[in-house]
Amino acid sequence: MDRTPLIDPFARPISYLRVSVTDRCDFRCVYCMSENMTFLPKADLLTLEELDRLCSGFVRLGVEKLRITGGEPLVRKGIMTFFRAMSRHLESGELRELTLTTNGSQLRKYAAELADCGIRRINVSLDTLDAQKFADITRWGRLDQVLDGIEAAREAGLRVKINTVALKGFNEDELFPLLDWCAREDHDLTFIEVMPMGDLGNEDRLDQYWSLKDLRARLAERFTLTDLAERSGGPARYVRVEETGQKIGFITPLTHNFCESCNRVRLTCTGELYMCLGQEDMADLRAPLRASPDDALLESAIRAAIARKPKGHDFDYSRQSVTGQMSRHMSHTGG
Ligand code: GTP
Ligand code: 5AD
Ligand code: SF4
Repeated sequence: MDRTPLIDPFARPISYLRVSVTDRCDFRCVYCMSENMTFLPKADLLTLEELDRLCSGFVRLGVEKLRITGGEPLVRKGIMTFFRAMSRHLESGELRELTLTTNGSQLRKYAAELADCGIRRINVSLDTLDAQKFADITRWGRLDQVLDGIEAAREAGLRVKINTVALKGFNEDELFPLLDWCAREDHDLTFIEVMPMGDLGNEDRLDQYWSLKDLRARLAERFTLTDLAERSGGPARYVRVEETGQKIGFITPLTHNFCESCNRVRLTCTGELYMCLGQEDMADLRAPLRASPDDALLESAIRAAIARKPKGHDFDYSRQSVTGQMSRHMSHTGG
């Protein structure tokens, strides 16, 4: 295999692969899925062995960070076999980080084993600490189960970063309670601007949109915020809250576009490679994967896909309307 690193047309090295291992989830978060989702037939999914071959191909081509997503990655049958297999790339030193983004519901069951596979920190989605509001936003989730999962992660020695989607009229009143809770529990916290993904039908992301510029200004009324240069390899920019010492991240696809430093692509559970979260274009990697046991076809398909990675997304809420919307659900690519 030619080991020339993957560089896109805008001179961005691609070192981060996000892999959605299932489109299924045990929750139905309102901004991520519709209430009645149709899921892919099992026969369409890549097997765990095929996912291994694909991810290992990317690792050989210079991917250093692998994030497993879904749907909810921990509901995929046999998923621990896959984490165990990927951990060999940590041991060899080719992969710098193996991690996952999860809703937390299955962590009590899997946290210890994840830690044993070399995972050090995980991202857990949590938008509210109020049980009723949690049930409303996730439609099917139970807050106590997730909090218990987070506790299990900590017991296993995993660092937890909480991902909170900033939602107007939903968690504005919980800004400081969430911050306090994360400080007490020693979790990092990252806020995310809600993106216009999924069949919006009768919903409107614009009504839900709470800009992180406003959220940050609200924080600054009470705390001293210092910008940090450090990066976690994703799009978040971080500040330190001087009074508490905690680290807060901001993911701002709407108020501050971070595409110029984009280093990632996304693989779905059927082998589609999306070069950008906010564009329709994708490349099918399942056909070249299945066409030959040799990886040459696969590698040229990956290189051809990277060669058409677009400059960035077109999400925009200015002028009081939504543009750049994607009909694809967030659960299709795992964010
Ligand atoms: P770390 O920096 O490693 O903690 O992770 P991350 O922020 O890359 O990943 P995470 O899975 O926690 O993603 C958090 C949010 O950022 C999700 O809502 C993603 O959809 C969003 N996000 C991640 N990458 C991109 C991206 O390339 N473009 C856009 N627009 N959003 C992204
Ligand atoms: N906008 C922003 N973030 C979203 N997520 C899911 N859907 C959206 C959306 N429409 C977040 C989840 C999770 C991460 C993978 O993506 O809350 O933290
Ligand atoms: Fe990269 Fe597209 Fe995300 Fe921009 S929107 S950071 S180009 S994946």
